[in-house]
Amino acid sequence: MKTVKLVADTKAIISKYKAEGKSVGFVPTMGALHAGHLSLTEQSVKDNDITIVSIFVNPTQFNNPNDLKSYPRCIDEDLDKLSKFSPDIIFIPEVEEMYPEPDTRIFNFGNLDQIMEGKNRPGHFNGVAQVVSKLFDIINPDNAYFGQKDFQQVAVIKQMVKDLKLSVNIVPCPIIREKDGLAMSSRNTLLNDEQRKNASKISETLFKARNLVPKLNVIQLKDWVVKEINKNPYLSVEYFEIVDDTHLNQIKNWDEDNIKIGCITVQVGNIRLIDNVTF
Ligand code: PAF
Repeated sequence: MKTVKLVADTKAIISKYKAEGKSVGFVPTMGALHAGHLSLTEQSVKDNDITIVSIFVNPTQFNNPNDLKSYPRCIDEDLDKLSKFSPDIIFIPEVEEMYPEPDTRIFNFGNLDQIMEGKNRPGHFNGVAQVVSKLFDIINPDNAYFGQKDFQQVAVIKQMVKDLKLSVNIVPCPIIREKDGLAMSSRNTLLNDEQRKNASKISETLFKARNLVPKLNVIQLKDWVVKEINKNPYLSVEYFEIVDDTHLNQIKNWDEDNIKIGCITVQVGNIRLIDNVTF
């Protein structure tokens, strides 16, 4: 496992692998790694000859400076965790290396980034697209691995790959959960003990909601989920939407012929947690 900080070095190493006909898998992360990231790494190592993991807290995707400042950073622990899965390269660039000049590109994802996370974090997905497109350009992966917890992010990245006509295959991987059901997230480490205990109510409610289909219609079910979670004094729902899995259009009836995903963001103190379930 080799750590590399410079774009030029990373490109040179990868061109050598590519010239040898090796397949390259890529796991982009912002560090503070948990079992979810490690499962992506494990999958990439299984699927590809070479696996590259990037660790880069991307400033352009944070619309809130305090969120960027408080984002957990623990590079030594991250490297230690990764070493157990034997990826080949860890790319850890500095901000100046990724953005020697400001990135002024504006992406247009239509509805995909106007709703849910896009509506509540203006500019977030544009920043994600900026950094992921740069990383794809540097790494030129055959396969890139993303967690389904960030369901809308996966939809946006798939659209970006289509729009930019990139040849990378996007591999969405299942949400990994704590024992009590809470979706794993780097942000979970920022919760205090009481918040952490109560946060499990989010997934618990989503799982219960699945059993209420089709007894409750879509509007009734959305209402039930929001009220149920908001009953808990530690939790405040920012949004709960049920959308189709490709265009993220709002579902109106359970009998529509599509895959239906319930996406939620809940504020726990100052921490935003996201989760989703398939209905
Ligand atoms: O999901 C994340 O951790 C980030 O949004 C990503 C894809 C690494 C881009 O910074």
